[in-house]
Amino acid sequence: IRIFVPIDAAALSVGAEGVAQAIAREAQARGLAVEIIRNGSRGMLWLEPMVEVETAEGRIAYGPVAVRDIAALFEAGFQTGGAHELRLGQVDALDWLKRQQRLTFERVGVTDPLSLADYSAHDGLKGLEKALSLTGAEIVEEVRESGLRGRGGAGFPTGIKWKTVHDASATQKYIVCNADEGDSGTFADRMLMEGDPFLLIEGMTIAAIAVGATKGYIYLRSEYPHAHKALQRAILKARNAGLLGASVLGSGKAFELEVRLGAGAYICGEETSLLESLEGKRAIVRAKPPIPALQGLFGKPTIVNNVLSFAAVPWILAHGAKAYADYGMGRSRGTLPVQLGGNIKRGGLIELAFGISLREIIEDLGGGTLSGRPIRAVQVGGPLGAYLTAKQLDTPMDYEALAGIKAMLGHGGIVVFDDSVDMAKQARFAFEFCAKESCGKCTPCRIGATRGVELVDKIIAGTERPKNLAVLRDLNKLMTDASLCAMGGLTPMPVMSALNHFFEDFDRPPAERL
Ligand code: NAI
Ligand code: SF4
Repeated sequence: IRIFVPIDAAALSVGAEGVAQAIAREAQARGLAVEIIRNGSRGMLWLEPMVEVETAEGRIAYGPVAVRDIAALFEAGFQTGGAHELRLGQVDALDWLKRQQRLTFERVGVTDPLSLADYSAHDGLKGLEKALSLTGAEIVEEVRESGLRGRGGAGFPTGIKWKTVHDASATQKYIVCNADEGDSGTFADRMLMEGDPFLLIEGMTIAAIAVGATKGYIYLRSEYPHAHKALQRAILKARNAGLLGASVLGSGKAFELEVRLGAGAYICGEETSLLESLEGKRAIVRAKPPIPALQGLFGKPTIVNNVLSFAAVPWILAHGAKAYADYGMGRSRGTLPVQLGGNIKRGGLIELAFGISLREIIEDLGGGTLSGRPIRAVQVGGPLGAYLTAKQLDTPMDYEALAGIKAMLGHGGIVVFDDSVDMAKQARFAFEFCAKESCGKCTPCRIGATRGVELVDKIIAGTERPKNLAVLRDLNKLMTDASLCAMGGLTPMPVMSALNHFFEDFDRPPAERL
């Protein structure tokens, strides 16, 4: 009997470890031979811990399972897919999964994340094998043709970035993975690293072969201890299997990979401060140009990509650029792992082709607010993303469509708020966040964020409101135009969207706020 219990941090946080142990104990007490496999999460976080049992009719899911349910589950014959009130049915037939186009996350939740044999058996390494049969320029061209754009948030064409590094001549080049997933409401990088770490290793190795880099680093936030453990173990296994090292899969091409931990600063997700931190210095943003593709880590040409960008590449190589580009709309090709959180009934991870509307994601898949109250605001793209109104939810998930309404897609995080939210306080939060996380290099951000908090406080208190509102708009323009990086440059996005769409919250008499 094979039973799957997720080892994903979200599942662990709601008791998956205890559930796995209770299943082992109960099976032993009943004299049943049970193999417990610790898989990644399927992304249906409201059903975690979700346990799956392998049966003749496919994998049957039960959830959310608590330790106190285990005896009754065995009694009901769940080990063979028996009926029980927690039985959800065949995993592949569940609406949440059926409606997705899982390319990057195709193995997450399916396989044992740390089994290289399982990885290969589920089409793993096909992309790398294909890459090893091509020249570097051909690999780069394949990535360019797929239309893949940087999934960290900026959406820069990955193939063009790779071409810049490929064409640069240097004695040493580097591959750096930005795994400092700092946006509030995002967790796709973490789920991928915990649920399918070999995929990231494969993607980075393909990048290395493509541009002639021999050394790679994964810059991981220290808040992700489970991902850290998974990556460390996977790298060791990959090295022992000849997937990493002096001759990748016997090709004669070398690639070595290491994980480096951050120390909790949001700004380390900005690529140049990340490189400073990797070099052992304080994470202060560098001015661009030069771009990292030409002068990156230790001054050498460096590919810096997000976890999801690297993780998309093996599928592209294995199935061809065209197959990937067939998904999506406009200039947003392929799929986007969307992370749905906040005040939502069914939160989690959904991988979808670009083009689906926010409304379908939030109302159909997410089931609306958890509180049952009306949706008032939705923040897309992390703490620096715009707040949208319920009327804007028909906007498709597409880089250009969101930019068209002065919003951004970012790293694909969606946070839902009901009508109890105070948008003036959300604007204050944006400034407060920026003031705390600013690297301090440039004045508009370092000083502007602190002045912004003070201004919103005055507006909320009703002090000289018309004048302070004008100063607030002026400050936002200055921060947008004159900040050195996206931290200070994008903080006005949530502030201005709150101000423009929810002005009544800035205009309310102070006494009414209570
Ligand atoms: P950017 O637009 O300056 O650069 C995007 C990427 O393209 C960079 O890697 C840059 O080096 C590269 N690039 C630009 N021109 C190039 C060229 N000619 N050749 C080769 N490469 C070139 O944006 P930036 O500042 O890197 O990122 C800002 C974005 O980060 C925001 O839009 C936001 O969505 C996202 N973000 C993501 C977070 C997360 O947790 N994932 C956190 C905060 C922000
Ligand atoms: Fe540093 Fe803020 Fe300036 Fe970026 S905008 S360089 S975080 S001070």
